[in-house]
Amino acid sequence: MEKRHAVVTATGSYFPPKVVPNSFFESYLETSDEWIKTRTGISERHYVEKGVASSDLALEACRKLLKKRGIGPEEIDAIVFGTVTPDMMYPSSACLLQDKLGAKNAYGFDVSAGCCGFVFSYTTGVMLVESGRYDKVLVVGADVCTSFLDMNDRNTCVLFGDGAGAVLLEPAGPEEGMLDTIQHVDGSGGKYLYMAGGGSLNPTSAETVAKNLHTVHQEGREVFKHAVTKMADVAVEVVEKNGFTLEDVDLFVPHQANIRIIESVAKRMKLPKEKVMINIDKFGNTTAATIPSCLDQAVETGRLKKGDLVVIASFGAGFTWGSALIRW
Ligand code: ACO
Repeated sequence: MEKRHAVVTATGSYFPPKVVPNSFFESYLETSDEWIKTRTGISERHYVEKGVASSDLALEACRKLLKKRGIGPEEIDAIVFGTVTPDMMYPSSACLLQDKLGAKNAYGFDVSAGCCGFVFSYTTGVMLVESGRYDKVLVVGADVCTSFLDMNDRNTCVLFGDGAGAVLLEPAGPEEGMLDTIQHVDGSGGKYLYMAGGGSLNPTSAETVAKNLHTVHQEGREVFKHAVTKMADVAVEVVEKNGFTLEDVDLFVPHQANIRIIESVAKRMKLPKEKVMINIDKFGNTTAATIPSCLDQAVETGRLKKGDLVVIASFGAGFTWGSALIRW
């Protein structure tokens, strides 16, 4: 029997309306618009208002997606929700989204994989469709990164924004959809990028708050170095393993953490910049939302068309990294 593949049949994305330019940080930190732009490529990012959670951003992205596909929420069979900022410890954001969206026939779960939240969720969603058990799987990447930011740490607060993106996966023939994927974790990298408070090791207390354990801690240079080599090498591997060359790739959609990481990855892969999707200037690093929002914008602007060969790749806290080769 022919192997069943999973193809993306609709995309959606959503960013909260409040835009925060670099000048906001200049007003109270020792930093500058010039430093942030040249060292990160970020000009502005979007922030939620108080009380807006990851499932709310996801809800807006999914509503747009369903409208484009012309189906109702009750047709969804499963929801895979990549996030490091779930609304709460439990229930999962997939459950909260299922209820808000009215996807009454769907089951779902969250995937925690740092900035690889979307790549791991997408691959998991593909496998659900390939299994033959599920026909319409919603894969979401959504993060309210402002919920883990130390707004007085100039090394991290300027980098992140809030947002959501989603794709719908449906069955397809063997020539379409995800052709292959390679994914890795290396837990020894955990010490370079983490948020220690609020879990079972350091349950929330006055002490964890006083010790600032509820915000992101990172060794930026170490993360940068690993991100460039691992993201580029895994992307090249998934392309070449399947008998393609980099010249065959129509669009490369990398995780958006820093423009210098993206440019170094593209250089290592010998990919011209016209083939690289970038939206970090307007949105910053939105963790699990970067790749699905890029895919949505690429479709909407005609940069991504049916039949194109697409490579997505990410690297994040864990360390986690992975890449997928897709016939769009
Ligand atoms: N404004 C001005 N100066 C700054 C700022 C800022 N916003 N941030 C850092 N600096 C300073 C540093 O303090 C340092 O000063 P010092 O030399 O006096 O100590 C100087 O700039 C250079 O620091 P570097 O760390 O070498 O700066 P670099 O050019 O590497 O940029 C950055 C730092 C942007 C953090 C970069 O290393 C980076 O992007 N790393 C990857 C981070 C990343 O991608 N994290 C997200 C993954 S997220 C996830 O999985 C949830």
